Amino acid sequence: TGQELTADFDARIAAHQRIEPRDWMPEGYRSTLVRQIAQHAHSEIIGMQPEGDWLTRAPSLRRKAILLAKVQDEAGHGLYLYAAAETLGVDRADLTQRLIEGRQKYSSIFNYPTLTFADVGVIGWLVDGAAICNQVPLCRSSFGPYARAMVRVCKEESFHQRQGYELLLQMMAGTPAQRTMVQDAVDRWWWPSLMMFGPPDADSPNTRQSMAWGIKRDTNDELRQKFVDMSVPQAVALGVTLPDPDLAWNAERGHHDFGAVDWAEFKRVVSGGGQCNAERVSRRRAAHEEGAWVREAAAAYAAKHQGTGQG
Ligand code: 3HC
Repeated sequence: TGQELTADFDARIAAHQRIEPRDWMPEGYRSTLVRQIAQHAHSEIIGMQPEGDWLTRAPSLRRKAILLAKVQDEAGHGLYLYAAAETLGVDRADLTQRLIEGRQKYSSIFNYPTLTFADVGVIGWLVDGAAICNQVPLCRSSFGPYARAMVRVCKEESFHQRQGYELLLQMMAGTPAQRTMVQDAVDRWWWPSLMMFGPPDADSPNTRQSMAWGIKRDTNDELRQKFVDMSVPQAVALGVTLPDPDLAWNAERGHHDFGAVDWAEFKRVVSGGGQCNAERVSRRRAAHEEGAWVREAAAAYAAKHQGTGQG
């Protein structure tokens, strides 16, 4: 009966067992996962644009090769996540349509412009650093395909963060102009990176249920705090100042206190009013439309060679 199925599902969640695609699951569990995994995938794909803008302008062949590898990785992360979403009965073409029509979200962080090459380093250090803080716990998410996708994503994210930090160390050892570029990029990306973790727990409609279902293992504020605590010593080692005068170690709490996030800016960017929202979505639409012939050719080839073993 429905009650027995629900009781069995709840018992598996309580025992921290994985839920697999063929297992019975409450409709709300499925729809929350589709929402979160699809938006996570959209974020990876949209996230290729800000750094992709610097591929043709990287200052050296080495930097170009590293950046190319990172941008390709993000495409792969999107692929793993769309594949994980499809185990829940949705289709990636439909999810892409929802993204393009603004019916599904992607991370606010990618609606900020990358003004100098130092932004590429700061994105690696802070944005991928925040992503690591958020994605490591997701390796223990209760839904099997999502958790398994995260294991590989996290391995690649640590390369992303390390290459960004190394790029910044090099620039900080460079000219005063390079050091100024790095500080300027830190000033522009610090607060938007804190917004990646979502609204405060008190304003998060999904956190409580997602924690109960083991989809999230930590709350938005817990992960944001962890990220701040991780970033402060890294900023000191780099020789940059984080743009928050209220940032201070609180020995009683054993954490850093930090200033108020501008949630009005967060809401504006999430609802489409950021600096790059229109550009990011229209470029995604253009890529989808211009790439239609590739999809059609691949489908025609597959149909022609169905069952011949060639492919
Ligand atoms: N940007 C855009 N929308 C956001 C957001 C952000 N930074 N933070 C929250 N939101 C949205 C939520 O999606 C939700 O809207 P919805 O119900 O329409 O989906 C609403 O704001 C309320 O937020 P909640 O906290 O209640 O929502 P969640 O429980 O889903 O928590 C989240 C938000 C922490 C982002 C969670 O969805 C999550 O952990 N997602 C997986 C990780 C992810 O998507 N990371 C995005 C970064 S991309 C990335 O890491 C790529 C790397 O290579 C840089």
